[in-house]
Amino acid sequence: MSQIEKIDADPIHLTNIVLNLLDNALKYSVEVPFIEVTVTDSKGFLMVRVTDNGIGIPKKLKKRVFEKFYRVPTGNIHNTKGFGLGLYYTRNAVKAHGWKISIESIEDRGTAMQILIPVKTS
Ligand SMILES: Nc1ncnc2c1ncn2[C@@H]1O[C@H](COP(=O)(O)OP(=O)(O)OP(=O)(O)O)[C@@H](O)[C@H]1O
Ligand SMILES: [Mg+2]
Repeated sequence: MSQIEKIDADPIHLTNIVLNLLDNALKYSVEVPFIEVTVTDSKGFLMVRVTDNGIGIPKKLKKRVFEKFYRVPTGNIHNTKGFGLGLYYTRNAVKAHGWKISIESIEDRGTAMQILIPVKTS
């Protein structure tokens, strides 16, 4: 039987974090977006995962997307607007909570952004 886990989180920042990931999943998608949000309980952590089937992020640029104002150059193909601030904010908010964020991505296949949140023990 599944139990309800508790976490320590600022509700506004947690909402912003998830909205940023969803916004990106939609913005960097292809013709028919397929976006999945899952929350799984694994070994004392909640794993929040937002997966898309979009344009992906080149392997060597995965770290850079967290930099302030950084946007992956895509030429004229994907004309999406943005400031390059969403993931900068997201990573800082994740770090401020003591959580971890990671990216799995394959170019032209899609991206999974994952956040690991420790569950509250008491
Ligand atoms: N799910 C994704 N799929 C493909 N590329 C992504 C994805 N999420 C982020 N990126 C890349 O990382 C860059 C940085 O993302 P970030 O959210 O910080 O900025 P942004 O979306 O460009 O602008 P905004 O400040 O409006 O969020 C994006 O410009 C894009 O190149
Ligand atoms: Mg964004």
